[in-house]
Amino acid sequence: MNYDVIVIGSGPGGYVCAIRCAQLGMKTAIVEKYNTLGGTCLNVGCIPSKAMLDSSHQYHDAVHKFADHGINVGTPKIDFKQMVARKQGVVDQMTKGVEFLMKKNKIDTYTGMGSFVDANTVKIAGEKTENITGKNIVIATGSKPSSIPGIAIDKKRVITSTEALELKEIPKHLIVIGGGVIGLELGSVYHRLGAEVSVVEYAPSIIASMDASLGKEMGRVMKKQGMKLHLGHKVTSVTTKGKTVTVTAEGKKGEVTLEGDYCLIAVGRRPYTAGLNAENAGVKLDDRGRVEVNEHLQTSAANIYAIGDVVKGAMLAHKAEEEGVAVAEMLAGQKPHINYNLVPGVVYTWPEVAGVGQTEEQLKEAGVKYKVGQFPFRANGRAVAGMDTDGFVKIIADAETDEVLGAHMIGPRVADMITQIATAMEFRASAEDIARVCHAHPTTSEVTKEAALAATENRAIHS
Ligand code: FAD
Ligand code: NAI
Repeated sequence: MNYDVIVIGSGPGGYVCAIRCAQLGMKTAIVEKYNTLGGTCLNVGCIPSKAMLDSSHQYHDAVHKFADHGINVGTPKIDFKQMVARKQGVVDQMTKGVEFLMKKNKIDTYTGMGSFVDANTVKIAGEKTENITGKNIVIATGSKPSSIPGIAIDKKRVITSTEALELKEIPKHLIVIGGGVIGLELGSVYHRLGAEVSVVEYAPSIIASMDASLGKEMGRVMKKQGMKLHLGHKVTSVTTKGKTVTVTAEGKKGEVTLEGDYCLIAVGRRPYTAGLNAENAGVKLDDRGRVEVNEHLQTSAANIYAIGDVVKGAMLAHKAEEEGVAVAEMLAGQKPHINYNLVPGVVYTWPEVAGVGQTEEQLKEAGVKYKVGQFPFRANGRAVAGMDTDGFVKIIADAETDEVLGAHMIGPRVADMITQIATAMEFRASAEDIARVCHAHPTTSEVTKEAALAATENRAIHS
């Protein structure tokens, strides 16, 4: 078969790209090595982790908050098998949804490992082996979990996020290596379900790539919740004996030894190009194994593009989706643009954490003069009503023009609040513009208004 576009990989980058290509009238095929579509995000990433975060959140509220609300349910019991089954139900619904969208958009789906024969031919090794050809090809093969040199992941006791979403039991003591997004989200799941959780992080702060104020506040809240944080600790060994995993880590004050029944390795992800035979098509990889692309997401082979986790930039589903749409529109002769500065980053812990634009640290380094407005959730009626008073919204604006340069939040449902700022920043709004928008009362979004007021002329009303 001959196509206008072949997309390799059906994650949020690939399947969204395929849909947009089809919408624009291109004859499109998608190739996926697994039997279900949706990639990391739908099968073993965003969606199942959020399903488990939601279930564990409900349990945590039942144990710790219901009584304050005047609701007595006795001692809630966890049916972990049911919790995992519900998660799988959510995943199945979402992956079937992608299957439906492929059919609806008349996109041909091929199941099997795709590899380049040449710059226009993809070999698919599935139940049968066949070749298809395409005028253009999009690589959307995503990423896999990274490891630490010298540490073996046995997928039983020493596990990655994929196994952590499939456990048969709640760990007694989960040792998490890496205090980044996965470590904190999945650490939170099991901590809420009753596990002791210890996080060992190499950097001096958790979620170190976000605005420093967020890691500081999150660290405080997590300690209050009972998670143990070993910051500034470099893991030196992970050994397993029977059901016990022993982790040793070296910190400034000496060595720490932790014993647990599971160890989650969450130290980042690496681009996935194994078996793709990119070299057959003249597609170059960079020094970190990512597919090298120019500003148009075009690889070293002119008719081949690459998007999502397999190329440079944030490894996020929404970034992959934007790139998928952009490539489709470029192929149709349009001139799309992605503002990478406005890709929000979110951590779905409780409180949630979200940021967009520049951090204070980045602005300092760039020598930009800025001002900051910050407002706490504890002074917000809706947050108090829901007993969710940890955290704040911080808005950073240009000292002279008042243009919003970044916003960093920690608090209830800030994942949903950050888009307001991204929208405002896309229109190059000032802090005063946001402050003058009428925000519904009582909503947690009023904290954003107050932070914008604070940034404007230090005129927050409720502080
Ligand atoms: P992927 O989703 O990785 O999809 C690539 C697909 O290509 C896979 O299905 C793979 O099987 C297939 N493939 C690879 N090679 C071949 C080949 N040669 N032939 C055929 N098929 C191939 N991001 C967020 O934005 N929000 C979140 O809440 C979030 N939560 C996450 C939670 C976890 C636990 C993890 C692990 C990740 C999470 N992410 C989240 C990150 C997100 O999943 C990725 O950024 C996103 O999936 C990247 O999309 P992609 O299309 O580039 O690649
Ligand atoms: P990460 O990059 O967020 O965090 C990894 C952490 O591990 C870093 O803080 C790093 O300092 C630490 N680390 C590295 N080596 C270490 C060592 N030897 N000892 C101790 N600590 C060490 O990566 P993570 O959490 O694995 O997530 C991978 C990707 O998946 C992220 O890039 C993220 O974008 C994406 N993701 C996004 C989510 C979201 O948007 N909510 C949720 C989960 C994952």
